Amino acid sequence: MSLPTPKSDNLTWQDTSVDRHMREELNRHRGAVLWFTGLSGSGKSTLANAVSARLHRNGVHTYVLDGDNVRHGLNRDLGFSPEDRVENIRRIGEVANLFADSGCIVTTAFISPYGRERRLARDIAGGCFIEVYTCPSLEVCEKRDPKGLYKKARAGEIPEFTGISAPYEEPEAAEISIDTGELDVDQSVDKVIAYLQEQGFLSP
Ligand SMILES: Nc1ncnc2c1ncn2[C@@H]1O[C@H](COP(=O)(O)OP(=O)(O)OP(=O)(O)O)[C@@H](O)[C@H]1O
Ligand SMILES: [Mg+2]
Repeated sequence: MSLPTPKSDNLTWQDTSVDRHMREELNRHRGAVLWFTGLSGSGKSTLANAVSARLHRNGVHTYVLDGDNVRHGLNRDLGFSPEDRVENIRRIGEVANLFADSGCIVTTAFISPYGRERRLARDIAGGCFIEVYTCPSLEVCEKRDPKGLYKKARAGEIPEFTGISAPYEEPEAAEISIDTGELDVDQSVDKVIAYLQEQGFLSP
């Protein structure tokens, strides 16, 4: 899957007087996209928010982009056809990249079950893309069932439900994997923060 070609030939990139590097110097940390992926109930939203809250308390600029919220606004014109799902992720990838470029550490929480759509988001964000795979077993997710969706899916009320009647392609090389069936929320956040520190994201 590749990025669409711009529709016009008459486009010139306009440089800005304040650039990413200057914003990162001011913020005293780098911008990044922490892309959480995993089954429903695996802990993406919980951790996207918990990581954001911990970073925020420590003076880091953060923003959370989460599933249905985006479909209320930017992507309200999109449904769940294969083309619309790709466009959904492409726009989220572009927005996440803009937030990272603005100097934020953005955490995204989308199941994003297909490797090709995650690669698209990675291509858009480049070197500041960090894939975080929340990987408890399906049994753990189904037992949690925080939205009651697995129950509905098992009853055949939700067609193409990831993990039950639609595939989830496991990431092959996620930067961080977290078995949230083993680690609690605080330990999981520690793991993400340790990665950000090791990779120099928390200093300019
Ligand atoms: N280590 C952990 N990390 C995250 N969540 C955990 C952890 N341990 C237990 N939980 C619980 O698991 C549930 C995860 O639900 P959450 O809404 O975050 O999943 P999700 O991946 O965002 O699902 P969906 O794709 O449906 O939005 C919550 O009830 C949370 O309290
Ligand atoms: Mg969620």
